[in-house]
Amino acid sequence: MTSIAIALHLLAAVIWVGGMFTIYVCLRPALGVLERPSDRLTIAEATFAKFFPWVWLSIVVLFATGYLMLFTTQGGFKFAGTHVHIMQGLAWVMTLLFAWLYWGAWADFREAIKAGSWEQADKDLGRIRKIVGLNLPIGLIVAAIGSSGRWWT
Ligand code: HEM
Repeated sequence: MTSIAIALHLLAAVIWVGGMFTIYVCLRPALGVLERPSDRLTIAEATFAKFFPWVWLSIVVLFATGYLMLFTTQGGFKFAGTHVHIMQGLAWVMTLLFAWLYWGAWADFREAIKAGSWEQADKDLGRIRKIVGLNLPIGLIVAAIGSSGRWWT
């Protein structure tokens, strides 16, 4: 059971953190070559619309498998390694940041796109960018701590 849980856990982490990396580090500067803001914003909207359901699925899988391992393999909160405590704490921060992005900037961005208000959409995209710019480094740190932790705790 643990081997299935850890495999799903890792796949979910790869999808969420890797997806953020691709969008933030590769897609974001690549969109800059498009001259018309409406093209840039429409592609950004289509990309997020595809990516965000995967983020929700990853969150559910990460928490379900993470707590399953914590209460079985790790023997509960009292016995779990420090890396697991840091991991789940930072995972909560990441999830709250994503929820804020999803119901705040993302909802506003979609409305602005629907209304064809490109200037407003650009501002909302800037808000999304800032939150992803925070969540990506946290995600990378969590992945590094989660995978190396058993060797130093
Ligand atoms: C963004 C969220 C998270 C990321 C990126 C993440 C990442 C990782 C990674 C990369 C590993 C190492 C996998 C391996 O050794 O093959 C891991 C292990 C683990 N994670 Fe997470 N994790 C996250 C959230 C959580 C949460 C919410 C919990 C809940 C307690 C959790 C509990 C665990 C446990 C118990 C292990 C096994 C640790 C060990 O074997 O020493 N993780 N995680």
